[in-house]
Amino acid sequence: MGRFSDLIRRTAGKKRFNSAIILAAGSGTRFDDSCAKQFVEIDGVSVLVRSASAFEQSSLIDEIIIVTRQADIEGCHNILKEAGITKLTRVVAGGDTRQQSAKIGFDAANPACDFVAIHDAARCLVTPEMIEAAMESAYVTGAAACASRVVDTIKRTNGADMITETLDRENAWLVQTPQIFMADMYRAASYMAEKDNVIATDDCALAERLGFKVQLVECGKTNMKITYPEDIIIAEAILAHRKKKKEEGAE
Ligand code: CTP
Ligand code: MG
Repeated sequence: MGRFSDLIRRTAGKKRFNSAIILAAGSGTRFDDSCAKQFVEIDGVSVLVRSASAFEQSSLIDEIIIVTRQADIEGCHNILKEAGITKLTRVVAGGDTRQQSAKIGFDAANPACDFVAIHDAARCLVTPEMIEAAMESAYVTGAAACASRVVDTIKRTNGADMITETLDRENAWLVQTPQIFMADMYRAASYMAEKDNVIATDDCALAERLGFKVQLVECGKTNMKITYPEDIIIAEAILAHRKKKKEEGAE
């Protein structure tokens, strides 16, 4: 841990180079078997382009790497170019698991990057403000992730859906993306996970298991992930609300 806090201190005040890895290599089985949700349009703009645009607009992000399925590489280049994503440096083919895709994306990033922000393309309502809040936290602690506090009571059940335990909601969170790490920390965490055959559903878990501290940053429910078809309806409503707010602000 000491080594990382030294590194953070030494890079403080310097211009950092930060890479965004956007994961879009999934097959979206819960959304609809026939269609990759990252290419679905919401209010005329695809899920992938919405995610990439938020990172494009943030002054704290220097390059964008897209991880997608082999067959979609060329199409991704085209749609992102058309959308004016100038920070795009590479589009690479992902792996069988989200974790493998994240590692492949990291390996394709600038090897001299200071921080890496790993983001699910499916979390397409992320804003530059959310990205920057998490990045500013990671500058202090070495690692940070967007998240929202749990509002419901959480139960654990047995295999037959019978309650076995009521969890303490007090300090419970739902973790989102981006999840941001000092590059050396993520390098160590992903290497060790691979070595120990550990597969996790988020990137923080890989750093946590090595004892690194990860700061959570409240980003609210609007940083939602498109998982099921009905999520599009919710996303449309959030976008309409944001648009209305912006128009009111401009008056
Ligand atoms: N992802 C990826 N590589 C994989 C699996 C997932 O890059 N092998 C990406 C997805 O494209 C998505 C993000 O990781 O943007 C979060 O995963 P999830 O929401 O689970 O998406 P899918 O795996 O595509 O959906 P499902 O689990 O319903 O099949
Ligand atoms: Mg999945």
